[in-house]
Amino acid sequence: MRHLMNPLDFTTEELDKLFDLANDIEQNPAKYAHACEGKILATCFYEPSTRTRLSFESAMTRLGGRVIGFSDAASSSASKGESVSDTIRIISCYADICAMRHPKEGAPMVAAEKSGIPVINAGDGGHQHPTQTLTDLLTIRSMKGRLDHFTIGLCGDLKFGRTVHSLIDALVRYENIRFIFISPEELRVPDYITEMLRARKIPYEEVIRLEDVMPSLDMLYMTRVQKERFFNEEDYIRLKDFYVLDTAKMALAKEDMLVLHPLPRVNEISVEVDQDPRAAYFKQAQYGVYVRMALILTLLGIQVQ
Ligand code: CP
Repeated sequence: MRHLMNPLDFTTEELDKLFDLANDIEQNPAKYAHACEGKILATCFYEPSTRTRLSFESAMTRLGGRVIGFSDAASSSASKGESVSDTIRIISCYADICAMRHPKEGAPMVAAEKSGIPVINAGDGGHQHPTQTLTDLLTIRSMKGRLDHFTIGLCGDLKFGRTVHSLIDALVRYENIRFIFISPEELRVPDYITEMLRARKIPYEEVIRLEDVMPSLDMLYMTRVQKERFFNEEDYIRLKDFYVLDTAKMALAKEDMLVLHPLPRVNEISVEVDQDPRAAYFKQAQYGVYVRMALILTLLGIQVQ
């Protein structure tokens, strides 16, 4: 039995197979429509979500399986004090696979240790969001044809943004990737990440002004400021509109630069940018369904001929 806690749980060869499968699902959805008949996915979400929970539910439904779960801790027995370990033991009696989101770092890992079924980390606090990373990598690979040899700018809340941490972890395994971290001083990428990049001799820069680096980017990964992880409302208000990507900034970028965003967006990408052919974030959300379908099949060991 296999879980997914971190994008590094899969080798790059395994990721290639997963993305090939996701692309085949995109091209031939009917072939997979009954692949999970009789199987049940549990979505245990202790934190709010639109994309991750509903794309998992859509993925399992499109595979012919069924879905149970809860979308908020208050409607589960966590509100009565039940531990994650006990909850997953119970869920293991009801479902074949579980996607779990939790505000505490490491909670899905604790669940996986006690689980009788595969557990997928659907986001744990400010730590990791591996299925978002699978979505991001599939989007880049499908739209650019490769996962190596590019300069990626990551902009916004690089301190609390778990999608950023997971994506960096995953990209360092590919050749000739250069990172440009664009953030206010208070929201810089954590030291453990820059230490890891230095140890692996992977080039990176940290800058504050987005305009200065736009022309050199092959990809721009925008993120929102993570309100729910701030200790103090005043700091959030001061930083929330620090970056706004608009058409004037897009005019500085390469003609084929992709704009990615895990979403939800608040104000950090102006809606006028949505019309720009380089804006890939809604397409990215669509890839999230294909890659989660591929992941469910892979973790359940189901092969479709
Ligand atoms: N990208 C993402 O995790 O979105 P949700 O919080 O809506 O699931």
